[in-house]
Amino acid sequence: MSEDTKPAVHQGRVVVLGTGGTIAGKAARRDDLSGYVAGQVSAADLVAGIPGLDTAPLEVEQVAQIDSKDMGLSVWQLLVARLLHHLDRDDVQGVVITHGTDTLEETAYLLHALLRPAKPVVLTCAMRPATALAPDGPQNLSDAVLLARTHGAKGVLVLCASKVHGAVDVTKVHPYATDAFDSGEAGMIGVVEHGQFRRFRDWPEPLLEGGVVESARGRSLVQRFLGATELPRVELVFSHAGATGDTVRCLLNGAAGLGVPRLRGIVVAATGNGSLHQALELALQDARAQGVSVLRGTRCPLGRVLASPGNWPDTNGLSPVKARLALALDLLEA
Ligand code: SIN
Repeated sequence: MSEDTKPAVHQGRVVVLGTGGTIAGKAARRDDLSGYVAGQVSAADLVAGIPGLDTAPLEVEQVAQIDSKDMGLSVWQLLVARLLHHLDRDDVQGVVITHGTDTLEETAYLLHALLRPAKPVVLTCAMRPATALAPDGPQNLSDAVLLARTHGAKGVLVLCASKVHGAVDVTKVHPYATDAFDSGEAGMIGVVEHGQFRRFRDWPEPLLEGGVVESARGRSLVQRFLGATELPRVELVFSHAGATGDTVRCLLNGAAGLGVPRLRGIVVAATGNGSLHQALELALQDARAQGVSVLRGTRCPLGRVLASPGNWPDTNGLSPVKARLALALDLLEA
């Protein structure tokens, strides 16, 4: 593909949806980069703190105010509903979501899987709280708005430390560095450098040009998602030295009589190219015999599980946390 060196930046309307995170975090001291509380500063105040951001039309809405470790269905439903509303507006060019970094890749993947928007939806974040001596949030937010206004930008994107990632490939790879995200072998989509976006790869493909969710499958899945009281229960399990399969047996048996939703799926973070400890594999066979869907991903940060005949289905290159959501959505749709 050709590289866009200087794509035009429009002055179109951008909607900023706040959900909390470190970008909105506050510490008692300015030099405290770890003992802060996430989700304290309003999205309106974050925007107001960046000179010139609102010289083009900009709206701000607070959807939630949480530490993203606690992200779950109810906030996702609010977010999806507000995105559907704003992306459908002719006067909105793109949406920016401020989000905590800890589960940002899960929200990004979920929005991609549900919406595949033809307009840009840019998730951004920070690794330092808003009260830090040198917070990274303001630059990230400013770059995210620029990206949302960039000609041709589309799909669910993640902006952190100038780098632009796609929702399918992005992973948080560092617990405290400001450049905390990586797209692995796929590589990032581009960079924002000195107020200009430079693209290296194709944008994520929308489901169909011109709309948010154009396919019948997409529409009915979104409706089911919005109306769900819970997502089909899919748990994550690791294969590791000394694994016994007891975790799987507890998952299968533990729900009985406790009011815990029935287990519908398991994603295994397997070793290497999807290999499973033999004791764990026996337990997974029991789970499958009881109607539980099982997918194999890999613990390795790079590469993907290569399918082999007669083996367990794999996550199709998705990380285990993203495959958990993909399987839950498949089960929701079934
Ligand atoms: C969070 O994920 O909400 C807290 C951590 C962060 O944003 O870096």
